[in-house]
Amino acid sequence: MNLKESVIVVTGGSAGIGLATAKMLAQKGATVIITARNLDRLEAIAKHNGLVAIPCDVTQKAEVEHLYMTIRDAYGRLDAVINNAGYGYFAPLAEIEVDQFNAVFATNVTGAMMMAQGALPLFKKQGYGNIINISSTAGLRGFARGSAYSATKFALKSMTECWREELRKDNIRVMLINPSEVQTDFAVTAGFDPRPYNPTKLQSEDIAHAIVAALEMEDRGFITELTVFATNPKD
Ligand SMILES: NC(=O)c1ccc[n+]([C@@H]2O[C@H](COP(=O)([O-])OP(=O)(O)OC[C@H]3O[C@@H](n4cnc5c(N)ncnc54)[C@H](OP(=O)(O)O)[C@@H]3O)[C@@H](O)[C@H]2O)c1
Repeated sequence: MNLKESVIVVTGGSAGIGLATAKMLAQKGATVIITARNLDRLEAIAKHNGLVAIPCDVTQKAEVEHLYMTIRDAYGRLDAVINNAGYGYFAPLAEIEVDQFNAVFATNVTGAMMMAQGALPLFKKQGYGNIINISSTAGLRGFARGSAYSATKFALKSMTECWREELRKDNIRVMLINPSEVQTDFAVTAGFDPRPYNPTKLQSEDIAHAIVAALEMEDRGFITELTVFATNPKD
């Protein structure tokens, strides 16, 4: 697709991978709408980077509906949804809190589903659209303490495959990106100690680059899935 003059929504666009992606898309000439829950941060980031801020908690159906109504009224079109909002909850099986388990599913799985569902009326009317789901290498292989997070990302991968089968006939490309560890606020939000910047590990811009490349490919084809690792990470 041609990113110039396209309209793209990035969930969780106020930080980390979402923000780097939104900036790169805007540099390519797209109008980029970023969403998140913390309104002050969202608006400050949008203003500073020439992005459009629309507050939306992806777990709240009414907020997702409001987001799409606003996009439809303001732009009358939508070229791509980047389903990026997400976080990690890590605990061994014996210590999993059911509320926390359900909450991470509400954001990483149900939220992504509602965002994709909400885009369909515009995509189908246009006969065209793109959905990029940001999963993880945790969605390819389980690991100790990963039950909740890894299960959400396996779920996202399976939903990606289902939507792809349903939507190809409408020229809607559904793609999955699996980053391995990326240096963002993700780890601290999940309760890990902050670590100093490591130049051998992935940065948000590396994932943004993969997302932009997948979108920019000619519409006659699409990359189903992309996995991104650091080449030679040192601890
Ligand atoms: N960093 C990694 O190592 C890594 C690796 C693989 C995959 N990923 C995936 O990449 C995605 C982005 O992660 P990141 O590392 O960039 O995290 P991050 O730096 O913590 O950013 C998360 C973003 O999501 C927003 N967000 C969280 N919950 C939300 C909700 N319910 N509704 C709307 N926005 C919400 C946050 O803003 P608010 O808090 O204001 O809502 C923030 O903008 C996630 O899906 C994550 O699972 C990350």
